[in-house]
Amino acid sequence: MPHGFFPPGCARARGGHAASIGYNVAARACRILLTTSRIMPDHAYLAIERAVTAVSLPGLGTDLAGAGAGVAVEGRDGGIAIRVSVGFPLGRLRPALESAIRAAVAAEGGQVLALNVDERIVAHTPQGGLAPLAGAKNVIAIASGKGGVGKSTTAVNLALALHREGARVGLLDADVYGPSQPLMLGLLGAQPESRDGKTFEPLTAHGIETNSVGFLVKESAPVIWRGPMVTQAVSQLTFQTNWHDLDYLLVDLPPGTGDTQLTLSQKVPLAGVVIVTTPQEIAAQVARRGLRMFEKVGVPILGVIENMASFVCPSCAHESALFGTGGGARLAEECGVPLLGEIPLEASIRAHTDAGRPPVVAEPDGPIAQRYAEVARRLAIAVALRPRDQKHLFPKIVVEERR
Ligand SMILES: Nc1ncnc2c1ncn2[C@@H]1O[C@H](COP(=O)(O)OP(=O)(O)O)[C@@H](O)[C@H]1O
Ligand SMILES: [Mg+2]
Repeated sequence: MPHGFFPPGCARARGGHAASIGYNVAARACRILLTTSRIMPDHAYLAIERAVTAVSLPGLGTDLAGAGAGVAVEGRDGGIAIRVSVGFPLGRLRPALESAIRAAVAAEGGQVLALNVDERIVAHTPQGGLAPLAGAKNVIAIASGKGGVGKSTTAVNLALALHREGARVGLLDADVYGPSQPLMLGLLGAQPESRDGKTFEPLTAHGIETNSVGFLVKESAPVIWRGPMVTQAVSQLTFQTNWHDLDYLLVDLPPGTGDTQLTLSQKVPLAGVVIVTTPQEIAAQVARRGLRMFEKVGVPILGVIENMASFVCPSCAHESALFGTGGGARLAEECGVPLLGEIPLEASIRAHTDAGRPPVVAEPDGPIAQRYAEVARRLAIAVALRPRDQKHLFPKIVVEERR
């Protein structure tokens, strides 16, 4: 079966029998591979392909084409076989997506004999030609301008939501000044082991791997962090933790644009950064500065998350815009990046997260877990749409002169 990508209009793409068609749906990233034994006319296949690529991903405001999926249609006696390949975890979306694909094909008069929806999370190109991290395909920094906007809360819930969708996930707590993840993951007092005296084994909580300076420094011990110490601590946590084949490693940052952000953008291969802000203009303004800093050093911005977007009253469930509205959306629009979602200000988020069982774990079927799942899916799609890392797929070839 051919697996090629040919630009629209390419002569080979029109090659009839056993042809492959590269098809750029509305200039988006979808790849369509059309393969035959043909039993229907070309236009019928194309209609089916278009219909499949236009299948919506429930609740995400995009379709398979917009999520960079590849679609292949193959004629078989008595019907067709469809292969869809996505670069993000489908998790609980899978059943709804598969039925929607079948319905879209049926609406075009086709009969699906075989449907194979394949998820393959690959490494995406990091900034500045850095080599991908051993043990983690995609490193995603969670940053903000101001402190207290909910970076750590967002990071831990997103990490758990991605895990729930079926991905292998790690969470690196890079906030050496105020590490939160030992508390938020219910791991206070735990310590990572070292088997070789040089590297750490990550700790595991609720199915995700983690490491934090909070495991290594006593909670009450006063530590004065000078610039080079920050760089060293962040580098060690990143490179000397034995992450195990992670699809995503989320990095919870301290606020602002200091030594940690600099270390990360210069040394750590990042698939991208997510900016967390609250809705107030003052928070969005500072977040904008953070976003520009990452842009300047060539780190891709994957999107903006607005946290504490509205207040949900715990007694009457009335929703009010305590901190104003739209700061995140405005920031995203101004900077030309996606708004990945809005998370309300809700007492249960604080209560569960600060008790070491974030809502994604404590109330997995509740509306808050649902919100985080949507944001996590949009984030995974934003990563999937980044160029794949090709450079490091090939072995380094060294030519040596024989003596
Ligand atoms: N959406 C939310 N609803 C309710 N409380 C929240 C929410 N997001 C964060 N919090 C709470 O706000 C406080 C600060 O959040 P945190 O994640 O530590 O912020 P940051 O990491 O940006 O400093 C924590 O007590 C956390 O539980
Ligand atoms: Mg924090």
